[in-house]
Amino acid sequence: MDQKIIDDVIFRKADDKDLTNLYRLEIKCFREDAYPPQLLLFYMRFPKNFFILAEKIPEKIIIGYIIGIIEGGEIGHIISICVDPGFRRKGIGSKLMIMAEKYFVEERVCISKLEVRVDNEEAMKMYKKLGYDIVDILKRYYKDGGDAYLMIKKLC
Ligand SMILES: CC(C)(COP(=O)(O)OP(=O)(O)OC[C@H]1O[C@@H](n2cnc3c(N)ncnc32)[C@H](O)[C@@H]1OP(=O)(O)O)[C@@H](O)C(=O)NCCC(=O)NCCS
Repeated sequence: MDQKIIDDVIFRKADDKDLTNLYRLEIKCFREDAYPPQLLLFYMRFPKNFFILAEKIPEKIIIGYIIGIIEGGEIGHIISICVDPGFRRKGIGSKLMIMAEKYFVEERVCISKLEVRVDNEEAMKMYKKLGYDIVDILKRYYKDGGDAYLMIKKLC
C-alpha cells in the first residue's frame, strides 16, 4: 500500500516492531478495555486484515490506528479504532475509517460493521457522520457487562 501523507501524518501498515508503542496508545485510548499485545499481534497476522497506523512525522510517534478484517469473505468488520487524545478532532479517525472502507470495497466487500459502547458519544458521532446506522443492541457485549450498538454501513 502507498503511504499517504496528510500534513505531518503518514498512514502505514502496522508491523511487529510497532507493538510496544501501539500498546502504549491502546492503553491511552481504552484503559481497562485495552487489547493485550498478543491480541494486537493476532490481528496483525490475521488473513485479510487492514491494520493501519497513523504516525506523526518526523518524530515517528504512533498517534492512531485502525484494525479491520474481512469475515467470511462478505463482511468488513472494524475491530478497533483509536486516536491519541492529543490529536483528536483533526480528521484522523475519519481518514482511518475511510481507508478501511476502501480496502473492503477493493476486496469486493460491500458491508462494513462495527460495535460501539452505547455511551461512547464521540465514536458514535463519527460513525453516524460517516454513514453508519444502528441496527441492533448487543446486550452485555463488553466484559464489564456494558451494552454495544451494532452499526452497519452499505459500501457498494
Ligand atoms: C472515536 C475516535 C477514533 C475519533 O477520532 P478523531 O480523529 O477525533 O475523529 P475525527 O476528527 O475524524 O472526527 C470526525 C467527526 O466525529 C465527531 N466527533 C469526534 N469526536 C467528537 C467529540 N469529542 N465530540 C463531538 N463530536 C465528535 C465529529 O462530528 C467529528 O467531525 P468534526 O470534528 O468535523 O465536527 C477517537 O475519539 C478515539 O480514539 N476515541 C477513543 C477510542 C474509541 O472510542 N474508539 C472507538 C471504539 S468503538
